[in-house]
Amino acid sequence: RGDFNSKIDYVFKIVLIGDSAVGKSQLLARYARNEFSLDSKATIGVEFQTRTLEIDHKTVKAQIWDTAGQERYRAVTSAYYRGAMGAMLVYDITKRQSFDHVVRWLDELRSHADKNIVIMLIGNKSDLGSLRAVPVEDAKEFAQRENLFFMETSALEATNVEPAFLNILTEIY
Ligand code: GTP
Ligand code: MG
Repeated sequence: RGDFNSKIDYVFKIVLIGDSAVGKSQLLARYARNEFSLDSKATIGVEFQTRTLEIDHKTVKAQIWDTAGQERYRAVTSAYYRGAMGAMLVYDITKRQSFDHVVRWLDELRSHADKNIVIMLIGNKSDLGSLRAVPVEDAKEFAQRENLFFMETSALEATNVEPAFLNILTEIY
């Protein structure tokens, strides 16, 4: 990582989408910098971070884009999805509404993104099990029906964050 001699074999663009406050920015902070903040502010516009990793002896640069869940702070939709090879569609396991809205995000994805985009459904905040409002089985069934990969994560506890990104990157590769 960061070795000036290393050449990049592939650049994969991944977009994060989902309702506001589900933890998109913190999942990215955890994956790209191993950081987490409890008083994370709502994203305005678009941000992106990268992380370089090895897959199958090739150097892959993951360019991960993050935008606002709130409509009024969102970036231009078509530009956000342009060239994206993967999407992480995030909901909060303690907020039923964020799961109910997944269908809307899928509609947006399917109308703006490449039809071969790899989509991973992410149920974040698995550390808050006592407040759970979305059963794992519901999400699994939904993901199966819609042909999505699925994982529950915790950006706070760093649970499954690495595997989730590795999974989507490997599927793209
Ligand atoms: P927008 O930018 O508005 O779309 O929101 P976002 O999806 O980027 O949410 P963000 O990452 O800013 O997180 C929202 C809140 O949830 C913050 O207070 C985070 O600290 C908290 N949070 C994020 N991930 C987790 C997690 O895994 N567990 C817990 N307990 N809290 C989390
Ligand atoms: Mg954000």
